[in-house]
Amino acid sequence: MRIGIVGATGIVGRELVSLLATSKLKATELRLSATTRSVGKKVATCLGEQNIAELNIGFFSGLDLCFFCVSGEISETWVPLAQAQNVICIDNSSRYRMEAEVPLVVPEVNGELLRGQPRLIANPNCIVAPLAMALNPIQRSFGLEDLWVSTYQSVSGAGQEAMTQLEAELINYPRLRPVPGQFLLNVIGCIGSCDSQGHSQEERKIIQETRKILDLPALPVAVTAVRVPVMRGHCQAVTVITKCRTSAEEIREVLTAGNVCVSADAPEPIAVQGTNQVYVGRLRENQEHRPRSYSFWLAADNLRKGAALNALSIAEHWWSLQ
Ligand SMILES: NC(=O)c1ccc[n+]([C@@H]2O[C@H](COP(=O)([O-])OP(=O)(O)OC[C@H]3O[C@@H](n4cnc5c(N)ncnc54)[C@H](OP(=O)(O)O)[C@@H]3O)[C@@H](O)[C@H]2O)c1
Repeated sequence: MRIGIVGATGIVGRELVSLLATSKLKATELRLSATTRSVGKKVATCLGEQNIAELNIGFFSGLDLCFFCVSGEISETWVPLAQAQNVICIDNSSRYRMEAEVPLVVPEVNGELLRGQPRLIANPNCIVAPLAMALNPIQRSFGLEDLWVSTYQSVSGAGQEAMTQLEAELINYPRLRPVPGQFLLNVIGCIGSCDSQGHSQEERKIIQETRKILDLPALPVAVTAVRVPVMRGHCQAVTVITKCRTSAEEIREVLTAGNVCVSADAPEPIAVQGTNQVYVGRLRENQEHRPRSYSFWLAADNLRKGAALNALSIAEHWWSLQ
């Protein structure tokens, strides 16, 4: 299979290059591109060392599949040009996620949408893919009536530049003069800009994408999304009200059957970095809240299930249905 990656030098792109080495997709050709600044850089891949190529129309010629690991604006420019050359496109940006005709897919949850062999598939937000993995078994078994999510998102969720900033802050730590927006020793209570109603873009994405993937357009959802001084691995405090009466033990059973790793303690970001699973801990019934109210702590690697791994799973699932 001839595979392209646009944005191959970014943190999602690099993770994808490395995951391709163990993928069921057998790459016969791997074409990588980024900005003109990166053209000519060498990248180690499963097919040996590859050069970063210039991104132009010719880049897509003859490709079967292309992953886009770039911003929404760049995807908007290049995805249609790739599609015009009949390349199957998997986009990691938010650009196409909410378009009605574009499936937004977590294969374990709504992989059946790939049966129609769509030519453009959107990969969800890094909080949403792991969250949907945990909510789907609960929804299927007990129904979801209400949902609250507070996120604790690592700096890698904001891309390479943000990681470089945190690294510089760590190096300069003893001499660091506190400034608003610094990552180290700080918590940033709003990710992206806020709309007129006070919701951040990140919170809107989490609400809309979760509803779309679970096919629950009217699900009440309240989200607070926050950036914490962690390099990699996103955490979430999740509370659900189920529709049917159940128990923490039954929820634990359906999560485990749904390939979620459930433990008694709270999984930490440093423990989930570099792993493929979604982890849930501290699952409990909220006796002091409302009937059928349950809370849990969720952690996953934002660059794996939250990004590159899910994108790759979409491609693997697409081809398995051929
Ligand atoms: N980070 C996460 O946890 C995460 C999770 C889910 C989804 N996403 C989404 O995935 C996408 C990539 O995120 P990231 O975190 O990997 O960002 P990143 O580390 O900043 O990487 C961005 C990539 O885009 C390339 N690029 C920038 N401008 C370009 C242009 N004009 N033409 C071609 N390539 C260009 C960069 O190339 P150079 O290296 O040459 O500058 C780099 O390869 C974003 O849409 C993001 O929202 C990220």
